[in-house]
Amino acid sequence: MILIIDFGSQYNQLIARRVRENKVYCVIEPPTIKVDAIRRLNPEGIILSGGPASIYEKVSPKIHPAVFKMGIPILGICYGMQFMMSALGGTVKRAARREYGFAELRIKRQSGVFKGLPKKMQCWMSHGDSIQRLPQGFTIWGSTENTAIAAAANPNKHLVGVQFHPEVAHTPLGTKVLQNFLFGVCRCKKSWSMKSFANEAIQEIRRTVADKKVILGLSGGVDSSVTAMLLHQSISKQLTCIFVDNGLLRKNEANKLKATLKQHLNINIRFVNATARFLKALKTVTDPEKKRRIIGRIFMDVFEAEAKKIQNVEFLAQGTLYPDVIESVSAFGGPTAVIKSHHNVGGLPKKMKLKLIEPLRYLFKDEVRLLGKAIGLPDDLIWRQPFPGPGLAVRVLGEITRKRLRILREVDDVLLEEIKDAGYYKKLWQSFAVLLPLKSVGVMGDERTYENIIAVRAVTSKDAMTADWAKLPHKLLGKISNRIINEVDGVNRVVYDISSKPPSTIEWE
Ligand code: XMP
Repeated sequence: MILIIDFGSQYNQLIARRVRENKVYCVIEPPTIKVDAIRRLNPEGIILSGGPASIYEKVSPKIHPAVFKMGIPILGICYGMQFMMSALGGTVKRAARREYGFAELRIKRQSGVFKGLPKKMQCWMSHGDSIQRLPQGFTIWGSTENTAIAAAANPNKHLVGVQFHPEVAHTPLGTKVLQNFLFGVCRCKKSWSMKSFANEAIQEIRRTVADKKVILGLSGGVDSSVTAMLLHQSISKQLTCIFVDNGLLRKNEANKLKATLKQHLNINIRFVNATARFLKALKTVTDPEKKRRIIGRIFMDVFEAEAKKIQNVEFLAQGTLYPDVIESVSAFGGPTAVIKSHHNVGGLPKKMKLKLIEPLRYLFKDEVRLLGKAIGLPDDLIWRQPFPGPGLAVRVLGEITRKRLRILREVDDVLLEEIKDAGYYKKLWQSFAVLLPLKSVGVMGDERTYENIIAVRAVTSKDAMTADWAKLPHKLLGKISNRIINEVDGVNRVVYDISSKPPSTIEWE
């Protein structure tokens, strides 16, 4: 395995991804990790990530310099390189000119991480400091026009630093640099697969949980379902999942989940129907943030009350993914701006004095799907599109009533059926309907109607951070519109949302 030290770079996710794409397992730890802990991890190599700090700032992140004496190969990237050089006795100073963007790297030594690479290659730079003098034992391996020491190494000690970012797509041969590090310098084997990840995760859960009990909030989405299945395979009946029906779910959602997870896969689930409580609290509320807060609060209450019925619970399991981890605890960046308050059970562990288990915390969404497959979850669960915690509440714009929820549920059902039939469901990040708080005039038969408007939203995305509206065929859009208006009472107009994110968001509220 490879240990990645997180110095706060926005590209850390990418480093981890590139390593795993090469079938080498990696973990990301903060610079505060103890030397003993590194020894226990026993990594084949360490990658020091980039980061926004300057090593001269008082609070700049530092890892214990003893790591450089452990005999483990280390690759420092950008800030990681600067830290390495300065910790070993070199000097770093503010560059006369900040270098940001493409640069041509002239490679001086075509071995080690540069083995098999051309003498000149394009690379991506983003730095304000530069290395001025190298520590003893290091030589320059590459330069750019602005940066004399753009790559340097001490091959005897297996230490190498690059000022550019090999992990980003703007460094086209960067993957080769990382592969050279993984397989040439660190001698890693391509042994990591989802199956091996699952086996290790199961062992780890058994070790951690021992004979204690675990609860898990099950939403029916991919992440919580995979977490539930993984825990079920590790500790079986010591796990209790709690599924809260908030009355804001899609058509037949709770029943479908019962049929697959409970009856078919035999996972221990308690279903709590709290519809009345949620809808009562949401009555007359139209402000989106208020809706979210109410739903979050009641969810916590209901979940906690149900959890208290189970004796001796010590752990709360969550399907937190790697991007969530990165977004919420960036090492040195400030707190990320809250665009919408996504509801989760974040406050619960503290309140209920529970320890957290997050077996997916190092995985990306597509890896979670692979893991789900490896542990035997059915395809229709693995390939579900994301669904927001506050459910249809943020898709029924304006006031939420049982009647308006019913209309949206029927519409959504028709929409998804058509999207699936046309083979688009898996290709889209999300496709759903929104009920607008407006009415419009129409004509049906000989009669004037004054009914609801539905907006159809379909987007493509990799991670929900950005998204583009899907260019669905007109014929399909036509069919969707026809069926919705013909089959769902109370709708006389359908519009298609053609905005991307940013500047819009995926959900309407
Ligand atoms: P936005 O609307 O911010 O959504 O572009 C990004 C992704 O997050 C989902 N979403 C939520 N998920 N709780 C969730 O668990 C929430 O409160 C929530 N709000 C939005 C949304 O469906 C999209 O996939």
